[in-house]
Amino acid sequence: MKRKIFLTLAALCCVAATFAEVHIIPRPASVKEGKGAFTLTARTPIVAAGELQNPARLFAQAAARLTKGEMPVVATPAKQAVTLAVDPALASEGYTLSAGKAGVRIVGGSAQGVFYGLQSLLQLAVNGQGRIPAVEIEDQPCMGYRGAMMDVCRYYHPVEDVKRFIDIMALHKLNRFHWHLSEDQGWRIEIKKYPKLTEIGSQRKETIIGLQSRDQSTWKFDGKPHGGYYTQDQIREIVAYAAERYIEVIPEIDMPGHMLGALAAYPELGCRGEGYEVWTRWGISDDVLCAGQEKTFEFVENVLAEVLELFPSKYIHIGGDECPKARWKECPRCQKRMAEEGLKNEKELQSYFMHRVQNYLSAHGREIIGWDEILEGGISKSATIMAWRDQNYGTEAARKGNRVIMTPKWNCYFDYSQTADPEKYETVCNKRYLPLRQVYRLEPYDRLRPEEWANVIGVQCNVWCEYIPNFDNMQPKILPRMAALAETGWALDRKDYNDFLVRLKDFVRTYDYFGYKYADYVFRNIL
Ligand code: ACM
Ligand code: ZN
Repeated sequence: MKRKIFLTLAALCCVAATFAEVHIIPRPASVKEGKGAFTLTARTPIVAAGELQNPARLFAQAAARLTKGEMPVVATPAKQAVTLAVDPALASEGYTLSAGKAGVRIVGGSAQGVFYGLQSLLQLAVNGQGRIPAVEIEDQPCMGYRGAMMDVCRYYHPVEDVKRFIDIMALHKLNRFHWHLSEDQGWRIEIKKYPKLTEIGSQRKETIIGLQSRDQSTWKFDGKPHGGYYTQDQIREIVAYAAERYIEVIPEIDMPGHMLGALAAYPELGCRGEGYEVWTRWGISDDVLCAGQEKTFEFVENVLAEVLELFPSKYIHIGGDECPKARWKECPRCQKRMAEEGLKNEKELQSYFMHRVQNYLSAHGREIIGWDEILEGGISKSATIMAWRDQNYGTEAARKGNRVIMTPKWNCYFDYSQTADPEKYETVCNKRYLPLRQVYRLEPYDRLRPEEWANVIGVQCNVWCEYIPNFDNMQPKILPRMAALAETGWALDRKDYNDFLVRLKDFVRTYDYFGYKYADYVFRNIL
């Protein structure tokens, strides 16, 4: 009998949680709903001084269609207002939000915390069409690194679309934009010292059509040149745009593999020294940077010197993934280097390569991130590992004391299909199946002891673009899966998939409000 009463109560609580008005993603730490409401209009002032005027203005612009005009941002206290303040006693990214008949007050641990409070307010405003229900929210993220990676190499994506990607990240309270800028299929960052990187390396003559099969005889190409790159001015513009949204941009120059863009421009950097072209197909090229010659390291350091000028980020991503060793095995210079340095095999040569680059960056005050292959052949404890092949690589690295970002492909690769039936619903795409639920399932601390958790600094979703040629294609790939990833990063200690689905139904109204295309068919699959 007791058990029955308990179950009935539990069911009632569930219903209460489900039908409450305050539905925010990622899930706040604490929500207490009150009575009454406050309505935002074009006449509601946003009270914000100093550095809070930036998030205030962004909010006013974002809400303008809802409030039928931009709310004024004022520096002096006002009634019936949205009032912003900072209290350094709060967690730096945390905030409190109190709404009632008298107005809304958001207090952040920093301007960034205020910005996140405003993101929550925006969701409430969209859900209530300007009406904010009375509520007391206390919120802060569980993980410090909440990232998204965009591959702009398989296809060039224009500056405006990169900015929209950043907007979408901000909506999900993500704070690290990992920008994958060099590849076999195109080099995308202007480097003044090496103009051919963009003149030659950013252009390919054509692109394989459709899903690339193993059988080369079936390959067909579109005959259309494809290319593009970001000038240094455009990069500064994007870094500043992201910073206004409290997002740090982490550039990736992928090395020593995935370098055909550079090799096509400067063939002397490869073991064969000639015969390279920017790839028109997908996959992993055997041609990589030659690790046996000093001019390769000079090139890498000169490129990084310009990268460091453009990107103030603490971390620089130096790739390290999928570097076949076939060329190094045949290259007399690489073999000589191995003999001179006492390296037992080519994996150790890769480790030698990564260490040299790491030393250069640490001499310039930066830290490296590398894909989990950098663990092979040895890597120093100060390297941060991005676990992508399997979460186990990250778990092992965290146990050994390296910092880790979890982005295992079976939870975090948003180029994978969202449905078990991609032909029916999706354009050409990677056939691997990664439904929303599986994104949500990521448990970054799995199999780690609590004292090891701090080594896992966060999570990230990755958007590889072999089959994502433009932003229209990209949106339903990242939405709503980014919401699931965001909830793991922000609300790891309070995840609940069923509750998430209820909130998601409201959250997609914010996608609609901004005109973002999301994969609505996932609702048919999961509900
Ligand atoms: C990767 O997917 N090659 C990091
Ligand atoms: Zn070589």
